[in-house]
Amino acid sequence: MKLIGNTILITGGSEGIGLELARALLPDNRVIICGRNDDKLQRAKAALPGLLIEQCDLTDERQRNALVARLLASYPQLDLLINNAGGKQPVDLLEGDDNDSAMARDLALNFIAPAALCNALLPQLRARPRAAIVNITTGLVYLPKAEQAFYCAAKAALHSYSESLRWRLQETSVEVYEVLMPLVDTQFHLGQLPDSVPAISAEQAARLTLQGIRAGCHQIRPGKSRLARWLALLAPQRGMRLVNG
Ligand SMILES: NC(=O)c1ccc[n+]([C@@H]2O[C@H](COP(=O)([O-])OP(=O)(O)OC[C@H]3O[C@@H](n4cnc5c(N)ncnc54)[C@H](OP(=O)(O)O)[C@@H]3O)[C@@H](O)[C@H]2O)c1
Repeated sequence: MKLIGNTILITGGSEGIGLELARALLPDNRVIICGRNDDKLQRAKAALPGLLIEQCDLTDERQRNALVARLLASYPQLDLLINNAGGKQPVDLLEGDDNDSAMARDLALNFIAPAALCNALLPQLRARPRAAIVNITTGLVYLPKAEQAFYCAAKAALHSYSESLRWRLQETSVEVYEVLMPLVDTQFHLGQLPDSVPAISAEQAARLTLQGIRAGCHQIRPGKSRLARWLALLAPQRGMRLVNG
């Protein structure tokens, strides 16, 4: 897909990979980002003049619907939806009683919110001559990390949904991309970046993502994510040991 002259929504674009995507796309496109924290949004706008910001907690259905209504009113010509916002809750699956709220939060942010945005914005995207949905998942879709079990399960659901959506939209003007991110050095890890696997930078993650989209590659597996896929197929036990250390 051409990445010039589009109107683009990047969820969770106020820091990390989303902010680097915004930085790279802004010179040639109209870019809207959203996030919960207004300070972060304002900082992003100060760093990238011309960036459009929308405050929204995507896990709150009312706020999400209000965001969609504002987008439909202000930017009816949306060409690209990048479902990037995500987060993870640490869990110990042996402590089952304590895990329900982590499970609900991980599913709400990493699966329900992006799928609901697709549902809500698809009519608008389909009205465009060329449009795309980009869902950001993770290489952990192939080899899940037990201490992030609900995050991995939610991203696996988004992976499966992306496949279905791509299949169903194949005769339409809307392309569906999935980016299975490897380890990326961002706030996502809350200062506890695992040292087992080398992380790529957020700038690098954004660059490889946009390179893949420009090349029309619908499943983009930067860095070690490709290896995770092969390990899951050829040596799954070894892969699970590597990921779960
Ligand atoms: N970093 C990695 O190693 C890695 C690996 C694989 C996949 N990924 C995926 O890549 C994507 C981006 O990750 P990242 O590393 O850039 O994360 P990040 O640096 O933590 O940034 C997350 C972004 O999402 C926003 N966000 C979080 N919860 C939200 C909510 N409820 N509603 C709206 N916005 C929300 C945050 O802003 P607010 O806090 O202000 O809401 C922030 O802008 C995520 O989907 C993540 O799962 C990351």
